[in-house]
Amino acid sequence: MIAITGASGHLGKATINHLLKKIKSENIVAIVRDPLKLAAYKDTGIKIRTADYNDLESLITALAGVNTLLHISTTSMGLVGVLQENNVVRAADWEGVKHIVYTSGLGPKADSYFLAVQQCLRTEEAIINSKISYTFFRNSLYMETIPQFIGNALQDGHIYFPAGAGKVSFVSREDIAEALSVVLTETQHQNKVYEVTGSKAFSFQDIASLLSLEKKFSINYMDIPAEFLEAELIKTEMPEDEIGWFLSLAKSIKANEFAPVEDCLEVLLKRKPLALKEYLTKL
Ligand SMILES: NC(=O)c1ccc[n+]([C@@H]2O[C@H](COP(=O)([O-])OP(=O)(O)OC[C@H]3O[C@@H](n4cnc5c(N)ncnc54)[C@H](OP(=O)(O)O)[C@@H]3O)[C@@H](O)[C@H]2O)c1
Repeated sequence: MIAITGASGHLGKATINHLLKKIKSENIVAIVRDPLKLAAYKDTGIKIRTADYNDLESLITALAGVNTLLHISTTSMGLVGVLQENNVVRAADWEGVKHIVYTSGLGPKADSYFLAVQQCLRTEEAIINSKISYTFFRNSLYMETIPQFIGNALQDGHIYFPAGAGKVSFVSREDIAEALSVVLTETQHQNKVYEVTGSKAFSFQDIASLLSLEKKFSINYMDIPAEFLEAELIKTEMPEDEIGWFLSLAKSIKANEFAPVEDCLEVLLKRKPLALKEYLTKL
């Protein structure tokens, strides 16, 4: 059986949809905090089990009989996130899971600017220490996050973000889900690390230029000081740790930590991944 944590999220649901085309539904275990979020899947025949990353016992129960686990990284930050993901690894180890596919971040280092990627590295280490075989999907930024960065640009013509000329190899979350379904249903991906990126990296200036062409409307990118963004986020009453997290992402992009481009997604999909231009056309 193949289990998926974070199954109620965007990536989890998209992966289940691809898995349903490849394997029998009774071999899919969707692990969620709230089963109501998968109400639409009730009649598909998948097993829906309840567990919380904070609750080790619930994870152990949910992983009964599971051979392969897709561990989708948590949305929690800092030590809480590290402990939650560690609980998933401990539960998998306890239940004798044979293989973990983990969604990590691109090129993780202990001193990466982006705090979430530092967390991912801690989980990768926990998985390696568990001796369970693994596949790490080190994902670049999802294309689907672009609306969060560009704000009202399609209305007012301005993108304000402190990323300088840093580039990002944006990748479609749908493509990642399809590639995950490939890795989960094949045997040759054990102890492999995939840097999962789009085919090209783009700066925010590039995005502004592409959008201007697509929408036939002039859109400008302004590389604002990080302090300006911080002041705006404080006004929105965003919690302090989330502000720190978002600013660390901006620093990371500026330092080109999301710029590397690799071809493993194309190899797994046996086709070209979605190009940024195609995504922006639909935006
Ligand atoms: N590469 C990128 O650009 C990028 C962008 C955003 C996020 N991410 C990472 O990639 C992951 C998957 O992305 P996504 O778009 O699918 O995110 P998403 O739609 O926000 O889904 C996150 C999933 O994690 C589950 N979750 C969070 N805390 C949990 C807990 N304590 N116990 C059990 N489940 C918990 C959520 O459950 P509920 O439905 O119950 O909340 C949800 O199913 C994210 O969780 C995040 O780590 C990557």
